[in-house]
Amino acid sequence: MRKPLVAGNWKMNGSLDSINTLLGGIKEGLGNVSEAELAVCPPAIYIQHVASSLKGTNVALGAQDVNDKPAGAHTGEHSVSMLKDFGCKYVILGHSERRTLYGETDDFTARKFIAAREAGLVPILCVGELLEEREQGITEQVVARQLDAIIDLEGAGALGAAVVAYEPVWAIGTGKTATPDQAQEVHAFIRGMVAKEDAEVAAGLRILYGGSVKGSNAAELFQMTDIDGGLIGGASLDATEFLAIGQACNS
Ligand code: 13P
Repeated sequence: MRKPLVAGNWKMNGSLDSINTLLGGIKEGLGNVSEAELAVCPPAIYIQHVASSLKGTNVALGAQDVNDKPAGAHTGEHSVSMLKDFGCKYVILGHSERRTLYGETDDFTARKFIAAREAGLVPILCVGELLEEREQGITEQVVARQLDAIIDLEGAGALGAAVVAYEPVWAIGTGKTATPDQAQEVHAFIRGMVAKEDAEVAAGLRILYGGSVKGSNAAELFQMTDIDGGLIGGASLDATEFLAIGQACNS
């Protein structure tokens, strides 16, 4: 059985005040989330603060990105060991905003993936197609290319200690969610692709859906066979919404 994961990607949002309110709300309602593992991924500068606020709860901590190098002259970056120092379990890699706004390639993402795994962090590898790629009918090729960057370098076994998040770029922050069937089709493709290499890894792989998930549409997405939770942007900034998404995994 795959334990569902609902991870909040706060992106570049929040202040000490708003984060305290958000975490207070999450901690208060945590008891109503029975099946899903919850994780929050704050901006790096708030990781230490969030770590101490979440101490004693079962909410996991993640980062939104990491550098592939262990240390050195990389102004503005942070390393895997720095994330480990503050108790991060997860790290989001290859988010479409990193790929499109900051030009990060499949290759660079794969190198970060390896560094994260070697340090014992669980990568949440984001894959997904642009609107024009979906319209051209090349969604599967795009997702396969993004996954192959890891598989070619490390083998499918590398995904055994990772999470994949399918985030169609056209659904991110647009209010336009993929239908459960559209999402399931790509999730099944991803699992099938991994299964061709390693059936056991494929069966245990958590594949999250991301893109305009809200409390009101989470249950219909999460009931699909190959959808094992969500990577949540906007709705993860509101404790009630985030918890409602977590509760959508309750059986
Ligand atoms: P939204 O939930 O705001 O669409 O963002 C999704 C996302 O990019 C999560 O990583």
